[in-house]
Amino acid sequence: MTKNKKQIKFGALIHGVGGNVSAWRHPEVPADASVNFKFYTEQAQTAEAGKFDLVFIADGLYINEKSIPHFLNRFEPLTILSALAAVTSKIGLVGTLSSSYSEPFTVARQFGSLDHISGGRAGWNVVTSPLEGSAKNFGKPEHPTHDERYRIAEEYLEVTRGLWDSWEDDAFVRNKETGVFFDPSKLHRLNHKGTYFSVEGPLNIARSKQGHPVIFQAGSSESGKNLAAKGADAVFTGHETIEEAKQFYKEVKERTVAAGRSADDVVILPGIGPIIGRTQEEADRKYEEIASLVSIESALNYLGRFFEHHDFSQYPLDEPFPDLGDLGSNSFRSGTDKLKKAAKENGWTLRQVALQSATPRGPFVGTPEYVADLIQQWHEEEAADGFIIHSSIPSGLSDFVNLVVPILQERGLYRTEYESDTLRGNLGLPIPENRYAAAAKVQVGS
Ligand SMILES: Cc1cc2nc3c(=O)[nH]c(=O)nc-3n(C[C@H](O)[C@H](O)[C@H](O)COP(=O)(O)O)c2cc1C
Repeated sequence: MTKNKKQIKFGALIHGVGGNVSAWRHPEVPADASVNFKFYTEQAQTAEAGKFDLVFIADGLYINEKSIPHFLNRFEPLTILSALAAVTSKIGLVGTLSSSYSEPFTVARQFGSLDHISGGRAGWNVVTSPLEGSAKNFGKPEHPTHDERYRIAEEYLEVTRGLWDSWEDDAFVRNKETGVFFDPSKLHRLNHKGTYFSVEGPLNIARSKQGHPVIFQAGSSESGKNLAAKGADAVFTGHETIEEAKQFYKEVKERTVAAGRSADDVVILPGIGPIIGRTQEEADRKYEEIASLVSIESALNYLGRFFEHHDFSQYPLDEPFPDLGDLGSNSFRSGTDKLKKAAKENGWTLRQVALQSATPRGPFVGTPEYVADLIQQWHEEEAADGFIIHSSIPSGLSDFVNLVVPILQERGLYRTEYESDTLRGNLGLPIPENRYAAAAKVQVGS
């Protein structure tokens, strides 16, 4: 277990035609990749061949004509993950599902099912849904405020965790001779009555091999960090520099300890987009090739989504980034705050901000050795416990697996075989004990 903790963790974000507005035009990208099961299978199997901890499927609940191509026509996360469970055997399967636009009973049941189907490999990325338009798709009068969305999420997690403990691990006797299917003393009703949810239970599926699905959290605002500290097993985040990542890492770990947990109970995984070349020049060229596909119009549309679908085409491109007041703070708050601050401090123009957002050139661009060194540095200096790899083009993942992974293995920093067949086991996370079984033990002991 200790050895496992020191090893770097990897996840692969599989996102069809790409997070880049124009990546679908790259010759290597199947133009229907976002709804192409073969593509998802190949990517998941490549990640599993590279002994990755998990694949990650992101999601959103509102689109319009300006949304990026991948968002327009893509698989629902739990559906594709259930299919991927059948074509993989060790890799974790993590998907986004919104706590603002769903019901905890259904979601506990869905992730409980995925966890059984996959033999204990499920993970849930709990998001509060940044996009205001989502309310219109769920018959809600309005999008809850940023703070309220996090209050809902907190109670939501309390309910789902409670439901997952409905059955103690040995509740199902299934004795054909005696006719006893289950032990009623090991079945528990939650009887939750809170501010946002009223759920009696019990849940109609048992705990899996890993106890509960692994809880991911991706918000980085104050509320987001607090939710992670109190209740997440893993955090998916994004940082441009090692300094920023170290600061975030330290803060979340400190808050986790302050919340009464161990710092190791939460795994921090920044997303990175490595671009590998045989030489630095080749890697730079690959980046330019991807970036050059993006027009300024599509970059402005991409940027607008983060600011409540704001129309940026109304501003001059080569003047300082416009003052937007509070715009964005009720959606992607942590991201929009950071962007506004950086634009002001650096005197960036609208064109610069739009192009940087649409085609960010992260630090992980270079030769396999260069990228491996940087990963090692981020890991050793406590900027990350591991990374979620996202690539604009499919060969980004296979280059990483074929060229960078062996270097990290050679250095003893990364597994050569899976330690476990559950996601918790591979991430080095504890299996949560059933709350009722734990309480019964305490009673017997007292
Ligand atoms: C790396 C990363 C991944 C995210 N993935 C998703 C996602 O798949 N779906 C979604 O609706 N929001 C996603 N979000 C948005 C967050 O869940 C959150 O709603 C948003 O960042 C605003 O919250 P914050 O101000 O606390 O950061 C992601 C955010 C980050 C930083």
